[in-house]
Amino acid sequence: MAHSHSKQPKPAGPKSKTIGLLAQFDDPDSLVAACERARDAGYEKFDAYSPFPVHGIDPAMGIRRTRLPFFVLAIGLTGCLVALAMQYYTNAMDWTKIFPGYAFYISGKPLEISPANIPVTFEVIILSSAFATFFGMWIFNRLPQFANPLHRIDRFRRATNDRFFLMVNADDSKYDANRTRQQFEEWGATAIENVDMDLTDQEIPKFFKLAGIVGLFLLLVPPVMIFRAYGSTNRAPRLHVVPDMDWQDKYKAQQTSPNIGTDKEPVYLYADDRAMRAPVAGTIARGDLQEDDRYYRGYEPGTLPPPAQPVAADGSSASFVSTSGPSAQDSAPAAQDPATTGQYPGEPDWIETVPSPFVVSETAIARGKQRFEIYCSVCHGYDGNGNGLVNKRALALAATGQAQWTTAKSLHDPTVKVQPIGRIFDTISNGRNSMGPYKAQIPVEDRWAIALYVKALQETGIQPAAGAAPPAAPQQ
Ligand code: HEC
Repeated sequence: MAHSHSKQPKPAGPKSKTIGLLAQFDDPDSLVAACERARDAGYEKFDAYSPFPVHGIDPAMGIRRTRLPFFVLAIGLTGCLVALAMQYYTNAMDWTKIFPGYAFYISGKPLEISPANIPVTFEVIILSSAFATFFGMWIFNRLPQFANPLHRIDRFRRATNDRFFLMVNADDSKYDANRTRQQFEEWGATAIENVDMDLTDQEIPKFFKLAGIVGLFLLLVPPVMIFRAYGSTNRAPRLHVVPDMDWQDKYKAQQTSPNIGTDKEPVYLYADDRAMRAPVAGTIARGDLQEDDRYYRGYEPGTLPPPAQPVAADGSSASFVSTSGPSAQDSAPAAQDPATTGQYPGEPDWIETVPSPFVVSETAIARGKQRFEIYCSVCHGYDGNGNGLVNKRALALAATGQAQWTTAKSLHDPTVKVQPIGRIFDTISNGRNSMGPYKAQIPVEDRWAIALYVKALQETGIQPAAGAAPPAAPQQ
């Protein structure tokens, strides 16, 4: 459905209703400031939207504490009373004329309320409180909703990326379309939009109604079956719905291994009594060999230098990467200058082109762009310039001493630009300095796609850093 929202307030048609006014802000601080001013202007029904939690926004909005705990307490106490009453009725009220209780004496316990009644009471309290919390949360949040009108606003999508929004509800007593719009402008909104709710969005879908009716009828089936079984007998064995391997001779994890059927004198299957076997040393799971250094690690096979030498007796060469040691010399000839080749001493020979089976294609670059924008742009920015939203926010917090942060590097930095694609792949896989590893989140193929996209991004020459080195040789 194509909905266009004009910037001017439009008269609400019969099928749509204005539910508020939305203001966009470009950074978290202006959002907090706007929330404070909305609060001070007497607005009560408004909400703020941000891609990440903004500290201090709750007091800025004047949000009251949730009433949920009181609701839960009330329902929990009700549960307590119901449990006690139920037990008192079944145990102690055998004198009622209609529906008398039972009055069974068990182990000489009193029939009236006694410590024996507490476990049931306790559990009913827990159960009713848990339900009250779960459903109370839904009710207080006015959920479920079939649709949220904000999702019809294209601009609002950036609320999960890099924009900040404030919406004042139309049913707020202070709301006035024109005055509120004027206030938004004063508070520095970079865009203002009317929020209309398409009333047809809120109708219960036909499918739900149909499914509800069918579901109701299906619900009647089990009671009918139980009722039937109640008055009949049957000699057939019980139904075993999912047989799994329930009736199989087998050992379970961590069991000992006596042979089945020799219970008088157990014969152990294995000399060490254990049924579980340790994996044979030096074996790996099928398909997990990952022997291809080029594809899985981004370097020429066999060029990984041996691990760093232990600290010398005088403690002088405690550095992890030894630039003069024999180990580094083996793989990185002294002639290589990292600033122009991107090949660093003490590191393997990074490959310059993408390895097979990865194939360069438009789809691969598009995939790389999409993954880059999910995993990397938050810090490195959409253009790779090192100024993503998280970076901006962290720098702002660091300026006031609330955080410590290493600026995400510009991917157009000459020292990054000259790097072979294999080293970019390695940075993504294993992290580098203060950047964390992404091996666990991103599969190998996607890591190559991202590395490829980084290379493509660098070729665009967006914002070349001052005094940039000559462009890197094109990859592939
Ligand atoms: C949480 C923030 C963050 C994210 C997310 C992030 N990086 Fe980084 N990245 C950094 C920081 C910080 C540095 C600088 C590290 C340093 O030098 O201490 C860096 C450095 C780099 C470098 C340069 C390494 C070098 O040789 O100096 C590359 C290339 C890079 N990142 C690529 C990526 C790619 C590709 C992704 C997405 C998979 C990504 N980064 C995700 C924070 C991040």
